Amino acid sequence: MIKQRLDRIIIRQPDDWHLHLRDGAMMQAVAPLSAARFGRAIIMPNLSPPVVTGAQASAYRDRIMASLPAETNFRPLMTCYLTEDSDADDLAAAYRNDIITAVKLYPAGSTTNSASGIANFDKIRPILERMADIGLPLCVHGEVTDPDVDIFDREAVFIDKVLKPIRKKVPDLKVIMEHITTTDAVDYVRDSRSNLAATITTHHLIINRNHILAGGIKPHYYCLPVAKREKHRIALVQAAISGDKRFFLGTDSAPHTDSNKLQSCGCAGCFTAINTISCLAEVFDVAGKMDKLESFTSLAGPRFYDLAPNKGFVTLTRGDVVVHPDHINTADGPITVFDPGFPLHWRVE
Ligand code: NCD
Ligand code: ZN
Repeated sequence: MIKQRLDRIIIRQPDDWHLHLRDGAMMQAVAPLSAARFGRAIIMPNLSPPVVTGAQASAYRDRIMASLPAETNFRPLMTCYLTEDSDADDLAAAYRNDIITAVKLYPAGSTTNSASGIANFDKIRPILERMADIGLPLCVHGEVTDPDVDIFDREAVFIDKVLKPIRKKVPDLKVIMEHITTTDAVDYVRDSRSNLAATITTHHLIINRNHILAGGIKPHYYCLPVAKREKHRIALVQAAISGDKRFFLGTDSAPHTDSNKLQSCGCAGCFTAINTISCLAEVFDVAGKMDKLESFTSLAGPRFYDLAPNKGFVTLTRGDVVVHPDHINTADGPITVFDPGFPLHWRVE
């Protein structure tokens, strides 16, 4: 039997459940690009200094909105950066007043601007309990930072050593494991009964560690958590295309200027805000699962966050190769756009 290939689908407008918009000149350049494509995005608070309080989140949201065209429908969903000294009352008030949608946990030293993150997880237990009481979700960068733990094992060790104990002690806490990269994380989420979901990035569905390291080092594929072996990438694709509502898109689009990426100690992050939907459509299409794309990009995320899907729809059409710019210019310098390494055929209207 010849299976007819779809060449046009209409889906609810996507959301991005993990996005870095930065600040200042970089934000001016990147925020409109996400706002033109996504209905909402969970905005990461890892500015320097980080967005810790409700007042800081509110001011950051105002700066984001001021960088967008006046007629935009985009809604930045703000987060506060959890520190060992965070004020639970302030977080609760920010949530109640619709300033923040989630709180972000970075283990200290895990990634870009994470120095103020958590070293002593017992210290934040009262805050996590309060969050569980009021239904405020926790977004987690799931990697241990112990220098003795191999970088390729840091996610799996985090699940066992940190996340399982936290979820056992605070079972009502709603947790989003962000940018998962391993079979361990996929299995852990699949085995959970409630209150746990995971975001998957565009680039982790496409690259494995060979893309970064084989045949010369490719700094533009270096991000955190670092991409793992091919078997892990395949597990992520299986999770994304499964239609399981516990897995949804968080691009982790993380712009850094080329001058900050291309040096002896380069920054981690892939910039996928522009071509994410074309890349994802290609991945789902090749897998024969275009019918599951909408769940991943547009339905599963709002469901976990108890929000309605976006009202608008977008049409994706398959045709000639779509060319995206290979970089964007900002007042801070150029930013290289993620190269999936294969031609893209899906266009978004
Ligand atoms: C992110 C960044 O640059 O802010 N980098 C990355 O590689 N993903 C931080 C993060 O989400 O880990
Ligand atoms: Zn990130």
